[in-house]
Amino acid sequence: MSKIEVKNIYKIFGPHPAKWLEAARSDISKEDLLKRSRHTLGLRDISLSVEEGSIYVIMGLSGSGKSTLIRHFNRLIEPTAGQIVVDGVDVVSLGKRELEQFRQKTMSMVFQRFGLFPHRTVLENAAYGLAVQGVARAQREDKARYWLDQVGLKEFEEQYPDQLSGGMQQRVGLARALATDAEILLMDEAFSALDPLIRREMQDQLLQLQLKLNKTIVFITHDLDEALRLGNRIAILKDGELIQEGTPEDILLNPATEYVQTFLQDVNRTKVLSASHAVNPSRLTLTMRTRPALAIKQMRALDYAFAPVLDGKRLAGVLTVDAALTAEQEGQRDISRQVVELASMPDTAGLDEVLVQLVASDQPVAVTGDGDKFIGMLSRAKVMELVTPGIGSIESR
Ligand SMILES: Nc1ncnc2c1ncn2[C@@H]1O[C@H](COP(=O)(O)OP(=O)(O)O)[C@@H](O)[C@H]1O
Ligand SMILES: [Mg+2]
Repeated sequence: MSKIEVKNIYKIFGPHPAKWLEAARSDISKEDLLKRSRHTLGLRDISLSVEEGSIYVIMGLSGSGKSTLIRHFNRLIEPTAGQIVVDGVDVVSLGKRELEQFRQKTMSMVFQRFGLFPHRTVLENAAYGLAVQGVARAQREDKARYWLDQVGLKEFEEQYPDQLSGGMQQRVGLARALATDAEILLMDEAFSALDPLIRREMQDQLLQLQLKLNKTIVFITHDLDEALRLGNRIAILKDGELIQEGTPEDILLNPATEYVQTFLQDVNRTKVLSASHAVNPSRLTLTMRTRPALAIKQMRALDYAFAPVLDGKRLAGVLTVDAALTAEQEGQRDISRQVVELASMPDTAGLDEVLVQLVASDQPVAVTGDGDKFIGMLSRAKVMELVTPGIGSIESR
């Protein structure tokens, strides 16, 4: 089910946005609109939908409209046109009181600069969102303690923000957001101010927490590695327009434009892609009961030196043409005695693991899914292509 539904949002900044809406609906560029009207095109015709329980990443360079978009979700910004539906509720139609409730209960925000109060303790900061909701002191402090513990800050409750490192301050920000029990977490460049190592730790922690929490998280970043690491889906913005939307694999394997391509250049592809992307579905599978003569005939027809053998849907092993010939010469009824073990790896194995396996041995490798189900054979050519796109395949597929 989708939790947040954004439908054809336009945002024009300036004194008379409605007047320039028609222009924005045409294909005038952001630059030309600014020149002609002194209005800034913040967002143009953005539609997307965020699934409940997913991490949705909005990515783009500075000024591409990321913050403008996320602020529409809790209506810190009003759209010039378009609709935002959260949990089936049209956010734009909410009255003042409803909106206040909605902001406090449905969404919480984590900011890039942490947004902590310097003269309040870590505990008071973490309890802040609950204080705003009118939760009694004892109760809100209990809850804040619980969340500080969850983010690894149990011993720091009585300290003040400036006594903490950046990473720890952002953990307080995260605890504060989580303490409100809001189902949606909005994180605007929440990790961008942190050192790379700390940043990675925070990403890991967020992924860990998410396993338990299953929140709907909208995460903004300008860093593609971070986007690929965290996102179930990623939306890429440029000059207020949605350039591409999809899973990390979609974006990595089929970049929509050169702009997306430039983002991809420095990405560590092996961390995102998995064995499932480098599978050749086998055109021939045998079973333990296949007769040797038939196996030989089929393998020769396809010019295969070997074929995977299944036991039901599970992978049993591999049969070589030589072994099949032996079975035939010895008059064996089926190939079962000639089947030998075949190296295999799960389809979820990262391409980095796949590479390790391929370097370690030149034997064929099968790829299996849930319950050892045979999916296909690992293609060395496909692995090469995924790791070094554009260089072209070295052997035929
Ligand atoms: N309040 C505002 N008034 C005028 N222009 C704005 C305002 N907020 C944002 N913009 C413009 O909208 C565009 C998108 O900004 P923003 O959403 O902050 O980008 P990002 O978060 O991706 O860096 C920029 O061109 C910015 O200058
Ligand atoms: Mg921003």
